[in-house]
Amino acid sequence: MNADDLKLRAAEAALDLVKPQMKLGLGTGSTAAKFIDLLGARAKSGLDVLCVPTSETTRAQAEAVGLRLTTLEDEPFLDLAIDGADELDRQLRLIKGGGGALLREKIVAAASERMVVIADSSKLVGTIGAFPLPVEVTRFGIRVTHNMIHALAGEAGCRGEITLRRASDGKPFVTENGNLILDCAFGEIGQPELLAEIFSLIPGIVDHGLFLGIADTAFIAGESGVTEITAPEQDEG
Ligand code: 5RP
Repeated sequence: MNADDLKLRAAEAALDLVKPQMKLGLGTGSTAAKFIDLLGARAKSGLDVLCVPTSETTRAQAEAVGLRLTTLEDEPFLDLAIDGADELDRQLRLIKGGGGALLREKIVAAASERMVVIADSSKLVGTIGAFPLPVEVTRFGIRVTHNMIHALAGEAGCRGEITLRRASDGKPFVTENGNLILDCAFGEIGQPELLAEIFSLIPGIVDHGLFLGIADTAFIAGESGVTEITAPEQDEG
């Protein structure tokens, strides 16, 4: 089975969670796109759901397949967000933002009662960080932000090249929120919670691709089928 087939299998598993009248957050990326196609087919045969997209690409696809769309301004509480991931571990700590939509993806996930990740098994890793961590930053003071990430991430054991993301035309990649992205090739992020705490101290960081304590469930499709992983109980204290 190729990666595309596996993505489809994961998307099919998540589709089973969708019930009539649900309000859904729609993720961004090739795996989320499979889910949107499946959902569109269901909508055509009568399933009524209302969706908030996490990017303009997703909005265009969702519109094209005939899904009913809304905004977080009109519907600030969603039932379920379904999204892909660039990497995840068994505690459902994710790296997202490969497609540059991390901020909207995190806001939509936060607005949702439940976040479900769909991915092929290549995304499941022992320790996240081989995928360069996307960090969305303001244009203003980007060199300062870069230097601060470089200096402070080391306190969480994270060292590596920090690169300004560029679009295919060579110009800096600009997010839909008008910001830039620094991709941090740390290799391994042994203490993601500590790194996230450190990032919260750096004023030029708008958000980062670490999704910690956000996803509830992941459907991981591999050669032997789809495995469901559930997030560990959150410590209330
Ligand atoms: C976009 C994302 C995507 O979910 C992530 O990049 C995974 O994409 P794909 O399903 O194409 O591998 O975070 O910002």
